Amino acid sequence: MEKKSKPPFYVTTPIYYVNDVPHIGHAYTTIIADALARFMKMDGREVFFLTGTDEHGQKVEKAAAEHGVDPRTWADRVVVRFFDLWKALDCEPDFFIRTTMELHEKGVQKMFRLLLDKGDIYKGEYKGWYCVSDENFLTDDVPASADGTKTCPDCGRKAQVVSEETYFFRLSAFQQRLLDHYRDHPRFVRPQSRMNEVASFVRGGLKDLSITRTTVKWGVPVPGDPAHTIYVWYDALHNYVTGIGYDRDPALFEKFWPATVHLIGKDILRFHAVFWPAFLLAAGLPLPECVFGHGWWLKDEAKMSKSKGNVLDPYVLLRAMGPDPLRYFLLREVPIGLDGNFSHEGFIHRVNSDLANDLGNLVSRALTMVRNYFQGTIPPPAPEEPDDAEIRKTFGEMKDRAVAHYESYALNKALEEIWSFITAVNKYLADKAPWKLAKDPALRPRLARVLHQAVAAIRGTAALIAPVMPGSAQKMWEFTGEPGRVRDVRFDTLRFEDLPAGRPMKEPEQLFPRVNLKEFLAEDAGTAKEKTMNEIPSPPERPAAPAVSEAPLITYDEFAKLDLRVAHVLEAVKVEGAKKLLKLKIDLGTEQRQIVAGVAESYAPEQLVGKKFIIIANLQPAVIRGVESQGMLLAAAAGGKAMIPFFEPDVPAGTKVK
Ligand code: ME8
Ligand code: MG
Repeated sequence: MEKKSKPPFYVTTPIYYVNDVPHIGHAYTTIIADALARFMKMDGREVFFLTGTDEHGQKVEKAAAEHGVDPRTWADRVVVRFFDLWKALDCEPDFFIRTTMELHEKGVQKMFRLLLDKGDIYKGEYKGWYCVSDENFLTDDVPASADGTKTCPDCGRKAQVVSEETYFFRLSAFQQRLLDHYRDHPRFVRPQSRMNEVASFVRGGLKDLSITRTTVKWGVPVPGDPAHTIYVWYDALHNYVTGIGYDRDPALFEKFWPATVHLIGKDILRFHAVFWPAFLLAAGLPLPECVFGHGWWLKDEAKMSKSKGNVLDPYVLLRAMGPDPLRYFLLREVPIGLDGNFSHEGFIHRVNSDLANDLGNLVSRALTMVRNYFQGTIPPPAPEEPDDAEIRKTFGEMKDRAVAHYESYALNKALEEIWSFITAVNKYLADKAPWKLAKDPALRPRLARVLHQAVAAIRGTAALIAPVMPGSAQKMWEFTGEPGRVRDVRFDTLRFEDLPAGRPMKEPEQLFPRVNLKEFLAEDAGTAKEKTMNEIPSPPERPAAPAVSEAPLITYDEFAKLDLRVAHVLEAVKVEGAKKLLKLKIDLGTEQRQIVAGVAESYAPEQLVGKKFIIIANLQPAVIRGVESQGMLLAAAAGGKAMIPFFEPDVPAGTKVK
């Protein structure tokens, strides 16, 4: 009998603004998408996972100007931070789209022209209020304050007046069609509460949407009218089609459009559940199956956001323990639709109890006993007793429930199921006490069966956690002697019983070390992690620098890429909570900058004011302990001390060093 094949699965994340580097909030969406993509492959579906960056518009233009570079240079610098973070988090998108790519810009222009020809885009005059931080036009119902100005209801920042010629998208004409679509597809927006929110917004009436600007230069030019650039949201939303070959690769596009799920934060629901489907309806393209608005990660009960400055740097956690604990925590701690509060205490608590205790101990205990009692080869499954059968059945039922939860994007519930199984296996081992069985040679078949069961449970668990913790799952898989990749397992054929006896296991190693909260927090606040952001884009554990003699030769051209300059220190202060760091204001002749340097243990701030030394002026900016560094000074590092070579005072600031 031929099995009905499952439909392709196409998942997207928002494309993130490159006004600043990514934080745990962005990591969250990308991790959900990655886990779903990995699950769906193991569920036998063809998968496409798209993420990328939103590089046009006023917000990015402004960030670039503040750093004294053009927007393209700025975007090129910041985008690397996204590539590197996704890599460090084991997130594997099938394509990374940048809205400055030609393939995207062309697609956007093509859609624009299409809608213009159809009459759904028309030219007019716009006057209203605009929030740059959210790149959003305020709706008319936002009241003015006493001084006549308006404040963005979403982010609380002052809006600016916009008054210019513009092209409008005829959003008003789509009200009924959107409402019909919501009625016919009640799961178009999830969770349900958000569907209600969206429908009531649309029922309240839709005004035409201004989709071009004449005062913003950094954007896709309107075809045939280059005085206008396309509004950044109109531009950005189209990434979901240009990223899978719209107008470029019909076979790919046909296979994966419409998207299965657009994952987004609830902050941008209206754009995805109202504007985007209206653009698609106008263009005659089918609508995505689902827009899933997840909750926010809060820090101290406020939304984590770059502009609020309360963001958490994922590298602090990644460096301490790799990607899996963070992936697990974010997906396990809260159901996708709800807000979560991030605290280091909560994080460490989960890592210790769920990962180090429950899972880590199961694996190390079972594998150590197999090594000690059976020379590290998997013992045979001697006759099954009722308790053994119980574990086997529990696994099968748990697998079905976990898979069903994964399929409906309830990742936290899938993990809960898996963990209740882990608890059951731990209890089984405690009850059967194999270390006691081992004392009586007559009970050897019983010992073999119990340990066989434990290894089978570990193998099955490895496959089920693989979407969420790919690295640890692969290790567990290999411990049980499996030669291949756990990601190649297909859940419909995964069976508890499929563990061959007699196969050698790999020597166990500790999967999840326990973390001491006090030490972790002390380190976090202190010295060991100071260099965190500066060391991006290197992966979490990089090897020590090679000895001088081993350092590879470089060409002069490679050297010449470094822009080394004489910097003159104007101000120096300590960075709070970081005993090695100083924040320096420096003069480079033509501009002033701020850099962060790890020299506080060697120099008092006042010793550096007025001094001149060399900095790398074209190093991509980094945020170090929350402070931005726009360059790096050169110093000799000896025995943990920094020694800075200084220039004579008469060398002018900004002089090139070569
Ligand atoms: O909005 N908690 O980009 P953006 C959870 N470019 N998720 C969070 C979060 C938090 N505290 N902070 C951010 C944009 N996110 C547009 C999108 S799409 C066509 C254009 C996540 O850089 C969440 O997914 O402001 C949110 O929707 C997204 O980052 C916003 O990223
Ligand atoms: Mg935002």
